[in-house]
Amino acid sequence: MSLLARVRLLAVTTAVIVALAAAPVTASAEDEGPSPEPTASATAEPTVSPSPTVTPTPTPTPSPTPTPSPTPTPSPTVYGYFSVPWTSTVYESWTDGVVKELTLSAWKAKGVAKRPAPIRYVKTSWSASRYALITFPQRSGDTAVDRVRTLTRAQFAAAGEPRVATVAHVPTSRYWRYASSAVDRYVRTPDGDRHKLTAAQYAAASRPPLTVVYGGYYRARWSQNIYFISTAGAKRAVSTVAYAAAGKPRVAIAPTVYVKTSYSPVHALITWPHRKGDRSVDQIVRLTSAQYASIGKPRPEIRTRIPGDSFIRLSIGRTIYHRSQGYLTPVTAAQWRAAGAPAVSTHSPGKPMRIRDILIVNKSLPLPSSYGNGLRPELTRAFAKMRAAAARDGVSLRIISGFRSYASQKSVYAAKIRQYGFATAEKRSARPGHSEHQTGLAIDVNSISQSWGDTRAGRWVAKNAHRYGFIVRYPKGKTSVTGYAYEPWHLRHVGVSVATHLKSSGLTLDEYLGVPSKY
Ligand code: DAL
Ligand code: ZN
Repeated sequence: MSLLARVRLLAVTTAVIVALAAAPVTASAEDEGPSPEPTASATAEPTVSPSPTVTPTPTPTPSPTPTPSPTPTPSPTVYGYFSVPWTSTVYESWTDGVVKELTLSAWKAKGVAKRPAPIRYVKTSWSASRYALITFPQRSGDTAVDRVRTLTRAQFAAAGEPRVATVAHVPTSRYWRYASSAVDRYVRTPDGDRHKLTAAQYAAASRPPLTVVYGGYYRARWSQNIYFISTAGAKRAVSTVAYAAAGKPRVAIAPTVYVKTSYSPVHALITWPHRKGDRSVDQIVRLTSAQYASIGKPRPEIRTRIPGDSFIRLSIGRTIYHRSQGYLTPVTAAQWRAAGAPAVSTHSPGKPMRIRDILIVNKSLPLPSSYGNGLRPELTRAFAKMRAAAARDGVSLRIISGFRSYASQKSVYAAKIRQYGFATAEKRSARPGHSEHQTGLAIDVNSISQSWGDTRAGRWVAKNAHRYGFIVRYPKGKTSVTGYAYEPWHLRHVGVSVATHLKSSGLTLDEYLGVPSKY
């Protein structure tokens, strides 16, 4: 017989496990597996009261009859009165399993003797908590546990600091595993401590049955980032520290379907499973070619649409773009028809274009002429930090051109045309409405000469600007992408994480956001 079955609280525990399995979404601690039955240690006694006609005076127990015929159930009687060391409550134990709590005065009024309840003091090897396993006997030799109480320091002292046995199982503990792993098993002791059991600990606890909790630890196939999925479907990133603290559980690969259209890269449709047989698409990721290669290029399903996509046209030109996960991909009219000729919204310069929360301005994506009123505070703050850091390295940085309105860009562009002629001017200056200077998020520093890039200051900027959220927006060798010649001095503020990503990947902002830059 298992340890659990010897506990008189079994009926209560089982009922709770069944309720939890039936309604996992409403479980209070779905993130962490089953909670301990909160009332187990205090009020786990059966709620059926003895019939009021029964007198509480002890009556002789009927002697066992040797007849095999069904015997009538004897009426319950009081077996005895018991006390525990840390409270003045007296417990009245009935032969049918009922335990009633009496106040000291109620007990005194009865004028009967009480005896100390048999108690085992136990702890587990993985926790400092000490538990009292209390028996209120109902008959001679009864050792079934009626109460499990986590002792406070004061209660332990009141009990006379008894010897505490280390046990592998504390009654009323809850055992479970997550659907993400068949081998990781968890226990929650009555005080709420959660512990991942080793195989030996589980065996020592007599291999109690496990409740399967849906959700658990998952990752995408191409990423090492671990997420905990709650039974309610919430996804939470698990830090390395939290992962170690959780006992390094097995991490399952989230079920994923790979799809692509004839013109788009492979998209992963991920399910972060939180229910039995969960098939819902919870996240759509446009895979980079490196991510796709890292998972062995699984054959995608070819579709005409990607869930969540849309089609837009820029107000300039006639090209239709497929927009998915913040990226725009130009499509032919035939491709658009093959997608079912869906509605195409027009992106007008009346609305600045934000992709992945980044304002993008280039030859394809202009700003309204009224847009902008100066340098943005996030740029000013970042530049002040960068200038101070450069100064510490003996490099002096200064802004030689900051915010430029539509009107001032108009004169800059006209001057470049006069100076260089149309073709060269187009590579050196943006047409009015197309300059990043109008965003208030771009600056030119120190010198507008390409050779400045090879000076100490130019090299310092190329090496360090990303730490302050800046990118060299028009890098060397990217004219076919950006539409502009190399400008080592033109810095665009995009924030530290995007700037760092662009620096390490070598992508331009246009490439990162998947937009063309063409008039
Ligand atoms: N020189 C850059 C491209 C501008 O005019 O905004
Ligand atoms: Zn510039």
